[in-house]
Amino acid sequence: METISSATGLRARLRGEPAVAFVPTMGNLHAGHLDLVRIARQRGTCVVVSIFVNPLQFGANEDFGKYPRTLQEDCGKLEGLADVVFAPPESELYPQPQQVTVVPPLENDLCGAFRPGHFRGVATVVLKLLNIVQPQVAVFGKKDYQQLYVVRRMAAQLNLPVEIAGGETARAPDGLALSSRNQYLSAAERTEAAYLYQTLAGMRQTLREGATDYPALEQRAAQALGARGWQVDYVAVRNQADLAQPESGERNLVVLAAARLGQTRLIDNLEVCI
Ligand code: PAF
Repeated sequence: METISSATGLRARLRGEPAVAFVPTMGNLHAGHLDLVRIARQRGTCVVVSIFVNPLQFGANEDFGKYPRTLQEDCGKLEGLADVVFAPPESELYPQPQQVTVVPPLENDLCGAFRPGHFRGVATVVLKLLNIVQPQVAVFGKKDYQQLYVVRRMAAQLNLPVEIAGGETARAPDGLALSSRNQYLSAAERTEAAYLYQTLAGMRQTLREGATDYPALEQRAAQALGARGWQVDYVAVRNQADLAQPESGERNLVVLAAARLGQTRLIDNLEVCI
């Protein structure tokens, strides 16, 4: 496995590769990331993983400064799974001070309503990375469901010659979705954190039993989280296809939530097919 830090070096290494499969990450890799890399392995002859903590997708008061940077350990975990790690310095992706940005759909909805500019930052860096790597397929986790949607729409609307594939969310035994941010949780918060998954699983069950009053369902779940000390950004029932608010009777739904435990913001979602 090679580690490459320049875009031109990476392009030279990938020249002639017949099928590049790509997993973009911000590093601090856990089992969920490695699942995505295994999907990439099945889809391409050359697997590229990028590791770049993208400043453009963090708000002023967010955790860009403390986001865990663990390149050496990450490379150890990728040995035998990936062919190339692309780990550029910030100057390689943002060489000029005024960055052209992509304005993606739904940028002010769901997480976008609470993280202004976040999805512009995500869409912009993903477009840059796709332009540099030029993969046949790029794999994103469903844990960041809105991100996967935004990237898919961007790829379709900008005619990018890449397939955007989604990988299932990896979970701890108690249901908590794996995330690099879980390590910010105290021991007590980590125990409580599984309640976010349990809340969504309860909503999924209620929907399967035929509930169609989605606002009432959202409100009850948000209140239950709030009563346990969570600061809820949103709990939402949406269509899988376009993340719009569903008409009653829609069959392919997704329940999504974002809430804070102490200083840590957690997100999760579950698809529901009725
Ligand atoms: O999901 C992530 O880790 C990031 O948002 C991504 C897609 C690597 C862009 O920085």
